[in-house]
Amino acid sequence: MEIAIFKDSQRASLAAAHLLARSIATKNGKAVLGLATGQTPLQTYTELVKLATVGKLSFRDVTTFNLDEYVGLPESNPSSYRSYMRTKFFSQIDIDPSKCHLLNGMAPDSVEECRIYEQKIARVGGIDVQLLGLGLDAHIGFNEPSSSLASRTRLKTLSSSTRATNASYFPSRDAVPHHVLTMGLATVMEARHCVLLAFGIGKSDAVLKMIEGPLGASVPASILQMHPKCTIILDEEAATKLTRKNYYREV
Ligand code: PGA
Repeated sequence: MEIAIFKDSQRASLAAAHLLARSIATKNGKAVLGLATGQTPLQTYTELVKLATVGKLSFRDVTTFNLDEYVGLPESNPSSYRSYMRTKFFSQIDIDPSKCHLLNGMAPDSVEECRIYEQKIARVGGIDVQLLGLGLDAHIGFNEPSSSLASRTRLKTLSSSTRATNASYFPSRDAVPHHVLTMGLATVMEARHCVLLAFGIGKSDAVLKMIEGPLGASVPASILQMHPKCTIILDEEAATKLTRKNYYREV
């Protein structure tokens, strides 16, 4: 794991945006990106939009796959991740909407939807860079603690703590769906480069367990310890509890 600690989330997000921009350039514009939602990647998307707006970056040939989506929310629902991606990112860059893939939480057959999603990822040759956030319980995607470390894209039930955390995006706590579709941990691990962002003191326990704790299904993000190319981008607050912070800085 490469662990990069920045003074604040603004600088960290700038670094993440430049890392993604470099990956797109390396692939001559034809990169396949895995994308995340939530609060954490917003500044990174803003920085990418800035680069695209001044003509330093084009998404014309980029393909994207999002990590997860709520079951039962149509795109017209502002709390859906499809709506989030459109408003916060896709509508502001020159990406081809037909190359932006999200799981369909309205699909009548979720098993088939997840199978086809994995097939689509395989057909484009896999994901070059997978952007990840980190849940307070150390989930990645919506792989809650106890998720199989070998899991593939599938239907999951959210924990009540994740539903409570995400309630701020909904009119009420009861409105947060119980079910989601999410890439599995093994699906995420197949990306050639994983880039996880975590900001704020609230994430410091999950960061500590992910990086320095034992690997196990109780800490889904700890599977990243097994990834051959994983970059963890933190701000100072999220890194507070790490015991080998000086070594990470030396590296
Ligand atoms: P957040 O969510 O970026 O809104 O903190 C992260 C996650 O739950 O994966």
